[in-house]
Amino acid sequence: MDSPNPLLLLLLVLAAVAPSSATPGVIRLPVDRHALYDRPVIGIVTHPGSGIHEIDPEGGNSGSYIAASYVKFVESAGARVIPLIYDDCRENLLGNLSLVNGVLFTGGSKKHGQYRDTIDMIFQHVKHRKDCHGDPIPLLAVCLGFELLSMNVSKDKDILTRFNAYNEPSTLQFPDRSLISGSVFESFEPELITKLQTRRLAMQNHGEYVSTVQAKNYSIICTQWHPEKAIFEWGQGLPPHKDDKAPHSEDAVRVTQHFANYFISKARQSTNRPCEDDVRRNLIDSYYSKFGQSQSFDKVYVFP
Ligand SMILES: *[C@@H]1O[C@H](CO)[C@@H](O)[C@H](O)[C@H]1NC(C)=O
Ligand SMILES: *[C@@H]1O[C@H](CO)[C@@H](O)[C@H](O)[C@H]1NC(C)=O
Ligand SMILES: *[C@@H]1O[C@H](CO)[C@@H](O)[C@H](O)[C@H]1NC(C)=O
Repeated sequence: MDSPNPLLLLLLVLAAVAPSSATPGVIRLPVDRHALYDRPVIGIVTHPGSGIHEIDPEGGNSGSYIAASYVKFVESAGARVIPLIYDDCRENLLGNLSLVNGVLFTGGSKKHGQYRDTIDMIFQHVKHRKDCHGDPIPLLAVCLGFELLSMNVSKDKDILTRFNAYNEPSTLQFPDRSLISGSVFESFEPELITKLQTRRLAMQNHGEYVSTVQAKNYSIICTQWHPEKAIFEWGQGLPPHKDDKAPHSEDAVRVTQHFANYFISKARQSTNRPCEDDVRRNLIDSYYSKFGQSQSFDKVYVFP
């Protein structure tokens, strides 16, 4: 291999650190007047229960949890996580919401009560932030989150039809390919879209169903499948844990990475600039997490 030309290296470094005043021979990069935010924070709503089972026996006051796979999904694309504790007082919920640049609703099972009210309230908050404050924060609603939003938007609590949920990956079909551009799939290489249609890369199969929707006027994306599992769930929970059927192929991992990057790229467009000390004080990192003690997830964060 040729050794690098020292003169060329020096010139490159000079170009990068040169002052912006017109210096002959220096390339000036355009100034981005709509700077994207490089310290995005995502609020994830906790789900009722201890996290040991995905579906906890009703009635027990067992706190709430977030599967760590959602947290890692968000962190893998360069954002940090603040938990939004579903049964917290309104003041705390709004206080924490004021620190985020995007929101994630997880999968789960709880379709009524305070959990549903909190999801509806935060959904309202996300739309309000754009409509009234011009801050287009994104919302990603996975599985249960998608179902609750469908019930709210359609004003029909019976809109969902029953499917047997097989613990299996499925293909994704694109009935209208013209919709891909401008959607969460826009950065997928055409060859990966074809693979999505022909190979079972998307975790969860309920038969035939609407798998992915995206709002026209808001950064709201809903998936019935689980984009977070391919990289971060390995069936390492508590026996008898569910079989790990999440696909872990290179293609399935790329699907997850594209999804996470797209979601966080939208969060970078948020105009919110929360105080760094407040963010630090509320990050999920200071909460307790446990590994290998859940039947459904490798690791969960738990909230009293
Ligand atoms: C966020 O929620 C936590 C947990 O309830 C609470 O201690 C904290 O004060 C809240 N943060 C803000 C900024 O409201
Ligand atoms: C949707 O959510 C809003 C905000 O919380 C709530 O006022 C409304 O009643 C909900 N609609 C339905 C049909 O559940
Ligand atoms: C969506 O936005 C467009 C353009 O800003 C507007 O004309 C349209 O009415 C909006 N649609 C809804 C449902 O708000």
